[in-house]
Amino acid sequence: MSDASLVFTELVCGYGDTVIVRGLSGEARPGRVLGVVGRNGVGKSTLLRSLAGFLPLLGGQLRWQGQDLARLPAHARLAAGIAYAPQENVVFGELSVADNLWLHLPSRDAARYEAALAAFPRLVQRVRQRAGLLSGGERKLLSFTRTLGLRAPLSLLDEPTEGVQPENIDRMARLLDQARSAGRGFVVVEQNLGFIEQVADEVLVLDHGRCVLQGALRTLGREALEQHLLV
Ligand SMILES: Nc1ncnc2c1ncn2[C@@H]1O[C@H](COP(=O)(O)OP(=O)(O)O)[C@@H](O)[C@H]1O
Ligand SMILES: [Mg+2]
Repeated sequence: MSDASLVFTELVCGYGDTVIVRGLSGEARPGRVLGVVGRNGVGKSTLLRSLAGFLPLLGGQLRWQGQDLARLPAHARLAAGIAYAPQENVVFGELSVADNLWLHLPSRDAARYEAALAAFPRLVQRVRQRAGLLSGGERKLLSFTRTLGLRAPLSLLDEPTEGVQPENIDRMARLLDQARSAGRGFVVVEQNLGFIEQVADEVLVLDHGRCVLQGALRTLGREALEQHLLV
């Protein structure tokens, strides 16, 4: 366990009296990608919402860089260095693509987006258009680009590749790799096992809100993951 990590212990997450995720422990570290996989409805998004502060924790401990996060609201977690790209409603449809990228930033420092915009020319072509006119996959690319541009020490990405074209998924993997090499950490929720295999160091498999498998991806191997996902 390291002081620079997000450490969660015996987490319980859910909505009011409805417990969705229980007994979850793990760690997301700088320069590492933690992949979270599991079938539809097992609680992956509920977990990320709880880590990001959009859902109050029902139990357990959550620490970030040695600080207790459990009661910090979402905006304070972002200020503390944890960015979040939700699964749905990922962009402001009425704003242009450019305004979506600059909305949260104090100044227009183009270097932030250089690598991502070079990788995704589609976004550059549509930079002045309303983001609401983008396809679902393009919106996910925009959300991914914006989150990466925040250069947060830790980013929580909920199904970033959903609806994205295969060639752009490969580019996303390369961008994540670069950000990881720069020392940033990620928690990536995915249904796309191929993407997880490309980017993740550790993986956590959720089933019915519980962790059923956890460890280094290299040691676990794809078959073990598939066993839990294909049932
Ligand atoms: N706002 C909500 N209120 C109550 N239950 C919810 C809410 N959102 C999701 N759920 C329930 O939580 C469970 C897990 O959902 P979710 O975390 O979205 O799963 P996943 O992301 O793994 O597909 C589902 O049974 C879903 O119906
Ligand atoms: Mg989800």
